[in-house]
Formats: sequence, C-alpha cells, structure tokens
Amino acid sequence: MNHASAAFYPAMSHPPAHPSVIAATALLGGIHLDSEKTWNILEIGCASGHHILPIAEQYPQARITALDLDARAIEEAQGLARLANLRNIEFHCADLAAWEAPSQHFDIIIAHGVFSWVPDSVKAAMISLCAQALKTNGVAMISYNTQPGWALRQPLREMTMALQQRSSHQGSACSALEWIERALDGRNDAYGHDLLETTRDSLAKGEAQLKFDDLYPINDAFYFSQFFHICQQNGLTYVGEADSTLPRISLLHSTAKAQLQSLADNPILMEQMTDFLTGRSFRCSVICRNDAERRAASPEELAALSIERLMPIPATGHDRTDAFSQAILRAAPSSISMGDLLASLPDVPVQQAMKMTGTLLSLGMIRLRDRPVLLSDEMPSHPRLSVLNLDHLKRGKPIVDAFHRSCLVSPNDREWLLLCNGSVSFEQLMKSCRHEDQISALHEMLAHMNERGLFV
Ligand SMILES: C[S@@+](CC[C@H](N)C(=O)[O-])C[C@H]1O[C@@H](n2cnc3c(N)ncnc32)[C@H](O)[C@@H]1O
Repeated sequence: MNHASAAFYPAMSHPPAHPSVIAATALLGGIHLDSEKTWNILEIGCASGHHILPIAEQYPQARITALDLDARAIEEAQGLARLANLRNIEFHCADLAAWEAPSQHFDIIIAHGVFSWVPDSVKAAMISLCAQALKTNGVAMISYNTQPGWALRQPLREMTMALQQRSSHQGSACSALEWIERALDGRNDAYGHDLLETTRDSLAKGEAQLKFDDLYPINDAFYFSQFFHICQQNGLTYVGEADSTLPRISLLHSTAKAQLQSLADNPILMEQMTDFLTGRSFRCSVICRNDAERRAASPEELAALSIERLMPIPATGHDRTDAFSQAILRAAPSSISMGDLLASLPDVPVQQAMKMTGTLLSLGMIRLRDRPVLLSDEMPSHPRLSVLNLDHLKRGKPIVDAFHRSCLVSPNDREWLLLCNGSVSFEQLMKSCRHEDQISALHEMLAHMNERGLFV
C-alpha cells in the first residue's frame, strides 16, 4: 500500500466539540448558558478553521474568536471566512500562552486536540486562560488523552517510531503499523488482542492524523483525577463529558454498574473508577468556574434537549423501552426533541424517559444537543452545498454535515458534488448519467448527502 506523507494537520470537524453538544452537556451538569443569541465563543488551536467555520455559519448572532499559532493555517481560515462572507468570526495568529484574553467574556471555549500535545507551560496557560476568560456561567470543553487507556498506545508509538526509520517503511506510520498488525496476527491472549485492536484503531486514523496525534513529539496522557486537580487549582471544576461515544460503559457488567453507582456521592471518584474499569483513552471534558451557579435542569429545559441517533438501537423486548427507541428511529435522520418524544409516548413518565436516555447515552447510541437538527428527506430541486463545503471539496478536504460530522468523499462522488452549487437541477444531474447503474448510484449518493443535511 502506498502511504503519502502528510505535511499538514488534517482538516476535521468534531461533533462533541460543537456548541449545541457542549451546551446540552452543560445543562445536564446544571450549568445554564445565556441565550445563544449573545454567545461569545472562543476556539483555541483552530488550525485552518475546519471545525469552527461551519459553526460561525450556524450561529450568525454569535461572536466567534479563533486562534492558532500557525500563520498559514490562520491565513487559510481567514480566506475561507471571507469566501463564505462570515462576519461574525475573527481569527488571530497567536500563542495561547501570550494571548491577552478578554476577562470573563466567553460563554463557550473549545480546545479540541491541543491540551495533550503542547508543553506543560502551555497546558497551564490554557487552563488559566479558561479560568480568566470564561463568564461566570460559561463552560470550556477540553479534550485530552487519558490513562489508563492511553498506556497501551505507548508501546505502539515506540514500535511505530522505531520501524518508521527503516528504509522498508519509507517513513510511513501506516506501513509500520501494518507490519505490527501482521506480527500480532493470531494472538488471542489479552495483551496481544488489545494491542491488535489498538493497532487497527490507529491504522484507521491514517497517515496525516497519526503524525499530529499518536506520533506527535509531545503526547501526554492524564488520569481524569489529575486533570480535575489542575482545574481545581485554577478555580475550575468538572461539569460532564461531551463525547457520549467514548466511555464504553456498555463493556461493564450490570454488577460493575451497580458497584459504580455506590460511588454516586463522589462523582469525581466515580468518573475515575469508570476510566480504570473501561480503559478509557480520550476525554472531552466540559468544565466551568467554581463560582458558577449550578441548578438541576427543569422538565421544560430537559424537554428542549434533542436526541441524535448514532447507531442502531437493538430491541430489548420491553414495550416502553422499545417504543422509546422506535420514536428516535422514526425521527431519523432528524434528531428528535425530548418533548416531542414524550408527547408521542404519553404513558412513559419523564423520569423513566430520562433514565432510558441516560442508558442509551452510556451505550454511545445517542448524542444530546441543545437544539434539534431538522432534516428533510425531500430532495431539493437544485441541490446546493454550502460555499464552505464546495471549497472543501475543491481542496480535497472532508465536507461537514448538519451534525458536524466530517464526510470524506470518493473522487467519483466529488465530481458530481462539485456540480451541486445550486445552478444544476436534480433532474439535469440524473439526465447526465450514461447508464442505469450510474443513475441508481448517483441517486443513492445524493439521497445520502441530503439525509446528512448537506444541501442548504
Ligand atoms: C492537533 S491540532 C488540532 C486542531 C483542531 N483543534 C482539531 O482538533 O482538529 C493542534 C493545533 O493547536 C495549535 N497550537 C499548538 N500550540 C499552540 C499555542 N501555544 N497557541 C495556539 N495554538 C497552538 C497547532 O498549531 C495546531 O493547529
């Protein structure tokens, strides 16, 4: 396999780092953000803006600041903002450790993929920036590698780095990982099996991401309790996790879950124990100021939360639970608000619905947002991608869907999608197909893109 070497950090969007997911996590943790109409949002380490630019498009009333050390990335981001005529976002080429943040100004601070990969002095500066720049009831989402799960990546990192140097691998991390995968073939002891799974997981990241993630010169992992301690020292505290897909609590037997419940009086210990038991390797932690006002969300506020289905939800044989999952399925590809869901199931009490939501969240089957994502399955007469996505396509970067997921497009689909700029009708696209197979493939691809809310 030929693995091209990658010079730039790959453009990516991250659903758990989306303001609507962060706001829902905050609400469940008792933090009530101000109205989104007045949100000030900061992204630290925004690279070329792939994550934050569509957010600026979705929240025209929010004022957004984004910064990164990399001058070329910031230049690219500024160019894209001009191209898409986004006036609510400003980019700064700055070192976060030297940047003079406005005091108590931000409702939401996003730092995805930065904390574990910068020197300790910059980590400290990031936490104190959050402490200084967050509004009293604002929240920050910081992602980082966690122990004990990351410990298994360490031997893999060492092996990959050593093998990469050999001429047979020509500097390619993926080629080195494929060598390791073969070397682990057939292993079914616990260590070999886990290392093989981790190798495959790393391979799936691809050359470009590996270079800036697993193999980046600085790559630190923390116990959750260490991260919490650093926050505490800076007047910050823990609110909740924005990535429901990661904890894999589903791995735990119901006895283990009951054991963890016995720690409910100490949520920080409970979080740490969950990491130990599940081998968690990454977190997207939402934090707030110690002096933030926290109160449980009201039933009306919970009803406004919206549920996004992430994977098929198997039947359980319990009528109410299955009716709940069916209602989520019927709404797909749109998300469904908790209020609408409850209205469709009049005999399910709110508390039971919240419990079922909690279970599906812990299984990584759903994600919560503070606003619905409403999609139509009707194909627009003239399919049109956003200006940002058309530009991403032209540059061979992933496009970003309505749920903020990155979507890689094959070269063939890319040619068709480049025509989706609003000037060519769906019928014309279909008529330009040369044979039946092409018609059905194009129809399917466009329907899929439409289901992901990519046509604006
Ligand atoms: C691994 S990339 C993550 C990009 C993006 N946030 C994501 O998760 O896809 C880390 C980014 O942090 C930026 N960065 C590193 N140190 C920084 C600092 N001291 N101040 C500002 N940005 C920094 C890098 O230039 C890089 O663009």
